[in-house]
Amino acid sequence: MKILLTAGPTREAIDPVRYISNRSSGKMGYALAEAALAAGHEVILISGPVALRPPAGATVVNVTSADEMYDAVHARIREADMAILAAAVADFKPAAEANRKLKKDRGIPEIRLVPTRDILASLGAIPNRTFFLVGFAAETDEIAANAVNKLSRKRCDVIVANDVSDSKIGFESDENAVTLYTKSGEIIVLPRAKKEDLARDLIRIFCNLIENR
Ligand code: CTP
Repeated sequence: MKILLTAGPTREAIDPVRYISNRSSGKMGYALAEAALAAGHEVILISGPVALRPPAGATVVNVTSADEMYDAVHARIREADMAILAAAVADFKPAAEANRKLKKDRGIPEIRLVPTRDILASLGAIPNRTFFLVGFAAETDEIAANAVNKLSRKRCDVIVANDVSDSKIGFESDENAVTLYTKSGEIIVLPRAKKEDLARDLIRIFCNLIENR
């Protein structure tokens, strides 16, 4: 199977030296890429800026902003049998990037933000899509309700939800605990484990769900 993965954060430029980003390390997405390769799949990894070694054997496309990630995903999606969108894409970007560094003596800047394009929703909206679509949801409260809502709103086959209010797991951590919500209404709980172990289980579960589709 050919699996397209997104991983890591995106950076949204304010000026040539500043940006808006988030705490994603990319570890979960890279662990999924490694697990998919180990299971014999082909991997196209579209990655935001991370401090991780590129998985050997993957085709890696490095991007910086949400717009670049959107374009890179759409350039390759037709090849994919499965898309797993594990990136923490910025939801907002500055309306315009200043082409010179903003200087203090000009006063405190007011930065107007506009929404980025939603990559996951754009893939869910492709008519008669044949690839299996997996989204992630980082939630702090009402995890089940928010995840189920995201599943139907973004028209995915599975949402992998994690509780980011628990600082011991998730962002920047080597461990995670997730709950899967499937289109057919199944709920699968994967308790706290190393991201590598979770990734292996997730790839196996996605493949089983595809077979039983
Ligand atoms: N995502 C994406 N493109 C965006 C924003 C998010 O592809 N511009 C994807 C992420 O990769 C992840 C899922 O959507 O798979 C997470 O969505 P999230 O940002 O949590 O959802 P929102 O629609 O922003 O909902 P909310 O702000 O209510 O949590």
